[in-house]
Amino acid sequence: MKKVAVINGPNLNMLGKREKDIYGTETLNHINNDLKEIADNNNIEISFFQSNHEGELVDYIQNNYKNWDGLIINPAGLTHTSVVLRDSILLLDSPIMEVHLSNIYAREDFRHKSLIRDIVTGHICGLGSFGYKTALYYLIQKLN
Ligand code: DQA
Repeated sequence: MKKVAVINGPNLNMLGKREKDIYGTETLNHINNDLKEIADNNNIEISFFQSNHEGELVDYIQNNYKNWDGLIINPAGLTHTSVVLRDSILLLDSPIMEVHLSNIYAREDFRHKSLIRDIVTGHICGLGSFGYKTALYYLIQKLN
């Protein structure tokens, strides 16, 4: 069975509570449950990890990347700042989908830059939680 990991960065555990006008009302659990259902229906094993800590995200990637056939990642605020997260993602040979709920290019200037945009397979933003599903559907067809 092919394995896909879903990683979410800082503050995404607060979805449903934080800036609902930008990020919507769905919780991360809700989003993950929808992804699990899609994965189950398509014979894909899926795992979920969220952390508010840069080093914890790096540790998680280092310890688990060898098991993954694909990665979906929303690094949240670390998208715009984290060289170390970028470096850890470079360990992967498998396809990587970068997802942002909001359209980062329609927001403050400091959000326009993604430090991983050039090393990922695809970059989806502005579709809300549907972005995660789109990323998963892409990986499903790519891995099958
Ligand atoms: C985000 C966009 C980031 O700029 C922000 O810091 C987030 C969420 C998004 O999903 O739209 O926390 O990655």
